[in-house]
Amino acid sequence: MSETERTPLIAGNWKMNGSAAMAEALVDAIAAGRSDSAAEVLVIPPFPYIDRLSRRAAKGGLQLGAQDLSVHASGAFTGEVSGPMLVDVGAGYVLVGHSERREMHAESDAVVAAKFEAARAAGLKPVLCVGESRQQREAGETEAVTRAQVEAVVDRCGAGALADAVIAYEPVWAIGTGLVATPEQAQGVHAFLRARVAEHDATIAGRIRILYGGSMKPQNAAELLACEDIDGGLIGGASLSADDFLAVIAAAG
Ligand code: PGA
Repeated sequence: MSETERTPLIAGNWKMNGSAAMAEALVDAIAAGRSDSAAEVLVIPPFPYIDRLSRRAAKGGLQLGAQDLSVHASGAFTGEVSGPMLVDVGAGYVLVGHSERREMHAESDAVVAAKFEAARAAGLKPVLCVGESRQQREAGETEAVTRAQVEAVVDRCGAGALADAVIAYEPVWAIGTGLVATPEQAQGVHAFLRARVAEHDATIAGRIRILYGGSMKPQNAAELLACEDIDGGLIGGASLSADDFLAVIAAAG
């Protein structure tokens, strides 16, 4: 961690996994096991479980988030879930622009920016996910791609909107693949992103938490989290095991 005061944030993105029973057991186990960690811990279950987990999470000192939200606040949008609804059931954070949404649901940078705006309007803290594909990395486009993903939000919402937000750098080639960015690769992109935010607002750049995501697990978490500009993790697969997730939380200090 850098000397700047940034509380580490360890977030578990459960994706479309689990059951009500598993969700409750996992939250209880994480709450029981994380007691002396200084990190903020966020669990991000599928929509149907947020409501039933809200009291448990609050009691256990865990934050609760959602994996996506609608750009709209209400109306005839069958199948969509709005920011105000997420707040209503106890969510405090929401992922916007996860690569699986960008890829499988054709979410453009503009749509992601609209979701970021909708999240803030509802009082949710957005976790803006950015990252390059393998082809983009090989073509040397990592910085251009991640910069555009951040700038789309700044263009729409203004740089001040980043004050309550989190950025998650998730190289698409490392998500769910077992491939993990080296600490040098990840730190390089994190420092690049922080510098881009600093071009707009140095204070926000010093405070904003930039998480790494992409096959983070107990075996690699400590060396990633030790990097100056890596302020936490967005963990998929390893967040479904209480033991693994707790080991990552412990690595955050
Ligand atoms: P992973 O997923 O940890 O399974 O690679 C990370 C994410 O997609 O948030």
